[in-house]
Amino acid sequence: MSRPSAEADLLSELTELVGDDLAASEEIFRRELDCGERAVESIVEHAALLQGKRLRPSLVLVSALASGGIEEGHRVLAAVVEMIHVATLVHDDVLDEADTRRHVATVHSRWDTKTSILFGDYLFTHAFHLASSLQSTEACRLIGRATNRVCEGELIQIAERGNLNLAESRYIEIVEAKTAELVSVSCRLGSGHGRDDPRLADALADYGRRLGIAFQIADDLLDLTGDESRVGKTLGSDLATGKLTLPLVHLLHSGSKAEVDEVRRLLTEPDEQTGERLLPLLVASGSLDYARDRAEQYATEACERLEILPDSPARRCLEGVTAFAVHRSC
Ligand code: IPE
Ligand code: IPE
Ligand code: MG
Ligand code: MG
Repeated sequence: MSRPSAEADLLSELTELVGDDLAASEEIFRRELDCGERAVESIVEHAALLQGKRLRPSLVLVSALASGGIEEGHRVLAAVVEMIHVATLVHDDVLDEADTRRHVATVHSRWDTKTSILFGDYLFTHAFHLASSLQSTEACRLIGRATNRVCEGELIQIAERGNLNLAESRYIEIVEAKTAELVSVSCRLGSGHGRDDPRLADALADYGRRLGIAFQIADDLLDLTGDESRVGKTLGSDLATGKLTLPLVHLLHSGSKAEVDEVRRLLTEPDEQTGERLLPLLVASGSLDYARDRAEQYATEACERLEILPDSPARRCLEGVTAFAVHRSC
């Protein structure tokens, strides 16, 4: 798969900075899931066919580099956060009835829903088993708390399904929980989770939280406007499953009565054409631009949190990640 150049640049910068450590963490990931059982291994192999962007493990490692150096525990933690992330994706693809992820068939379309639920559980339990091999119980506690919040976010999101009066503040709460918590804890864990310098750990965690929100707003824009072959996953599922995202929240709160009535009508009975029909309304009302601006604001705030760090290639890389999060096309 070829990636557009801004994305390729960021990814090659990451590889240069933490490539060996990332490879070591992937080896830890593989070893943890290696159970010698063919029925399980065939799913693990399938899930490993194509890697994702490796954002969360990279953040553990680059945050560690920016705040003093990478230790073996960081490589393990990088594997743990990626494993939790993949577990949420496997379950999320069931919830969204998505067929494609990372350019290949999702577990639930290649196997079935039952297998996906069990495989997602398998990844969660292995992530916690792996985390328990660390000396620090504090790291385990932080990962447990972040994962609780991810699950809460997914539960709130499903409870709010179809709520056309969803407020922007509620949307942000959902995004903070389901996405930003894991990004935030990845950065905190990189910083040594406050063992040495609580202010630095808090600043990096806050950087990650704001970055995570910007990242999910951009993901929600891609769900409406992205190119499936480039993004590599099924798009349009937010509309299909009744998930209201920021552009629609904005339009429903700021549009004229005629616009709002039309959007409500389209969202009440979504079909294959709903996205196409909504798009001109979202463009004309400035709702896509509004969402992009909000993502930019979160990205800018994330960058500001890095001012606590001395200038270094790792800090500059963390800054670059914020622009990537907003402007990415995959
Ligand atoms: C997808 O995350 C789920 C969201 C939180 C939007 P990524 O876009 O980081 O997925 P991969 O790991 O690159 O596949
Ligand atoms: C998923 O959000 C966030 C998770 C915590 C899994 P999305 O449903 O938007 O993620 P994608 O678009 O399927 O990757
Ligand atoms: Mg999804
Ligand atoms: Mg999405």
